[in-house]
Amino acid sequence: MKLFDVYPLYDVTPVKAKDVYVWDADRNKYLDLYGGHAVISIGHAHPHYLVKLKNQLDNLGFYSNAIKNPLQKQLAKKLGKVSKCEDHQLFLCNSGAEANENALKLASFATGKKRVVAFRNSFHGRTSAAVASTDNAKIVAPINAQQEVTFLALEDSVGLEQELKKGDVCAVIIECIQGVGGLDEPTTSFVKSIEKACKQYGAKFIADEVQSGFGRTGDFFAFQKHNVTPDIIAIAKGMGNGFPVGGILIHDTIEPQYGMLGTTFGGNHLACAATLAVLEVLESEKLMQEVEDKYEHFMKKVKKLPQVKAVRGRGLMLGLEFDFEVGELRKQLIYKHHIFTGGSNNKKLLRILPPLTVQEKHLDKLIQALQKCLKPMEA
Ligand SMILES: Cc1ncc(COP(=O)(O)O)c(C=O)c1O
Repeated sequence: MKLFDVYPLYDVTPVKAKDVYVWDADRNKYLDLYGGHAVISIGHAHPHYLVKLKNQLDNLGFYSNAIKNPLQKQLAKKLGKVSKCEDHQLFLCNSGAEANENALKLASFATGKKRVVAFRNSFHGRTSAAVASTDNAKIVAPINAQQEVTFLALEDSVGLEQELKKGDVCAVIIECIQGVGGLDEPTTSFVKSIEKACKQYGAKFIADEVQSGFGRTGDFFAFQKHNVTPDIIAIAKGMGNGFPVGGILIHDTIEPQYGMLGTTFGGNHLACAATLAVLEVLESEKLMQEVEDKYEHFMKKVKKLPQVKAVRGRGLMLGLEFDFEVGELRKQLIYKHHIFTGGSNNKKLLRILPPLTVQEKHLDKLIQALQKCLKPMEA
């Protein structure tokens, strides 16, 4: 059987990884400044993470949600504390798309409505309602077109009010820093206007923190900069440091009912152990507290690169914008300088999503490599 060929691949085969480094089969060492799409939060093969997962596997790897799993309660308690979202409840699933799918479904259950407001250039995943709320016609199949979704521009508070006033909107879903879209961010006043309009017109405010959550911006969640309280928060990626796990945090004002949501694998013992390990390391190594200093350091160094027209995003969720498409640059970084970086819908943007354990010296390495790559490009 051959693979269903949907991924354009770089010619690199990682076989081993440790902290911010990845090695290929020929023992070449790569600096991972992309974390496998913002997934590696506490560094590859973190010793505490390995011990927790291995111990859990020795005891009980999986049982379904038909039995008591104290690890889920332990995780909910810890996540509430570390994220400062103690007024939310936790539902666990397996991926970012699934988190958003459940978030949208729950908003619809809770309001009895079905239209969604989402934003231009958004990415929320590839399942039914999640992909319909994603602003990319290429990945929306005819079967997904049944969802009613209205797309607005970020900052369009007038449009937001007009749409919500119609009374049929169940949810407004937003990434407080757009990931795949290219690191654009709404202002605090716009995010606050979403919170207000949702309350006023009976819709649920969903923050998609699948990429920006788990400390990546220095706050646990990107929305926290804006001092708002979303009704539902979607999480995944950095949550399991590579173990597939997702979830939604649901405000206490939304009441659960048996059977409303469910999953076979979601919240399994290994997933809980992985997420608990991530939270423990975030706390013990004070990784979130260090994000701001690393960002400041990087911003100082970026000034050495006049070719960078803008730096988008914040913390360790960053995009360097050039006035040319970065495809060739990314190839040079990976093949010549052995540095992993990412792209986005904005073809002129180089995305940087390193493990939060990244050090200044690693960021300096990127700057030096960029200096070398950009010189001949200018000539
Ligand atoms: C903001 C955001 N939401 C949802 C998703 C979908 O997550 P997954 O690929 O785990 O389904 C992504 C993935 O890139 C994302 O960046």
